[in-house]
Amino acid sequence: MSGPVSGPRVVLVGAMGAGKTTVGRLVADALGVGFLDTDEVVERDAGRSVSEIFIDDGEEHFRDLERRAVAESLVHHDGVLALGGGAVLDVTTRELLDGHRVVFLRVGLSDAAKRVGLGVSRPLLLGNVRGRIKQLLDERTPIYEGVAQHAVDTDGLTAAEVAERVRAVVEDEHHG
Ligand code: S3P
Repeated sequence: MSGPVSGPRVVLVGAMGAGKTTVGRLVADALGVGFLDTDEVVERDAGRSVSEIFIDDGEEHFRDLERRAVAESLVHHDGVLALGGGAVLDVTTRELLDGHRVVFLRVGLSDAAKRVGLGVSRPLLLGNVRGRIKQLLDERTPIYEGVAQHAVDTDGLTAAEVAERVRAVVEDEHHG
């Protein structure tokens, strides 16, 4: 048997600009399941945007809310789940991911910078989008690789092309 018996069909991890949300929606449509993004769960529970939470209460508080949102979503969501780019920094979250089907959407600096644009809705990027993305990719790529069983390259590909590759990973394991 492969994959978890319950929980999301697939969990997407990767940096800001990897396309987790856009690709995740397409994969969910292709599989005929729901899509959930942990940033959305945090925003819904807090009644505020991620940026507002960072500004009002700081990153640490956001990470607490995010840890709870991930834990809850891993139990209650059975479709495609996208994690915020920094969620895997948390050791408890990494432990909870063990046993789930996790796919790392890999993106290089150039494509990530293009996709996030000015990064206005991403508080961690404010000031120097390219420099911050480079730093985050350097720090986090080994962590994404550590929690994922599969990596799917996204550079130079459309969201539909990436989604098709992710769907193939999920379906292969399902039938294999
Ligand atoms: C973050 C990524 C964001 C959001 C927050 C922090 C990060 O999610 O959770 O701004 O630390 O990489 P996306 O990866 O969905 O943009």
